[in-house]
Amino acid sequence: MAKILGISTSPRKNKNTEFLIKKALENIKNCETKFISLAELEVKPCTSCDACKEKPECTIQDDMQKIYPSLRNCNGLIIGSPVYFGNMTAQCKALIDRTLVLRRHKMALRNKVVGVIAVGRSRNGGQELVARSIQSAFLVHECLIVSDQETAHFGGLAHEPAEKDEIGLKTVINLAKKVESLVLQLNK
Ligand SMILES: Cc1cc2nc3c(=O)[nH]c(=O)nc-3n(C[C@H](O)[C@H](O)[C@H](O)COP(=O)(O)O)c2cc1C
Repeated sequence: MAKILGISTSPRKNKNTEFLIKKALENIKNCETKFISLAELEVKPCTSCDACKEKPECTIQDDMQKIYPSLRNCNGLIIGSPVYFGNMTAQCKALIDRTLVLRRHKMALRNKVVGVIAVGRSRNGGQELVARSIQSAFLVHECLIVSDQETAHFGGLAHEPAEKDEIGLKTVINLAKKVESLVLQLNK
């Protein structure tokens, strides 16, 4: 069965980003899903040591080592970040930078389907830029980026409290269904 991984990159447990990633995964009916939250894990920034130029491993021994197998094995990824000063969280950026090893060794994320969720306190607090920044990183991995298209254009974009943001929830559910649909088409 095809696999879709959901990653929340908020440092806060059981808050808006986790809620939205879980909402997305709940709406996926025909793929296996897995949820990872960085609120409980430590992912340090890339130090550009370049060890991964030689070996297909990252030398930093932290919780990213547990995330690599899930990233390698999934067919689709739904990743979400809160807006922090108009961009993604430091935790989200650290995770993305640590995927360099996957790019350097056989472009391991190439052709995986990626959807992005962003949540801010404000209605227009920078969610679009967060989505576009994260999408840019996964374009570098040659991933297949999908969006909500119906109302948000750039992904699942919401404001807090996320459970009351009806339009935001709709964009998240649309995004999840689109990620699933493309994953299923590509993995018949
Ligand atoms: C350091 C920091 C910067 C923030 N900057 C913004 C911002 O630029 N725009 C915005 O709408 N919300 C901003 N927020 C609010 C968070 O995006 C918002 O509370 C979000 O729902 C948090 O997600 P979480 O509940 O999953 O942790 C900021 C919060 C923090 C802690």
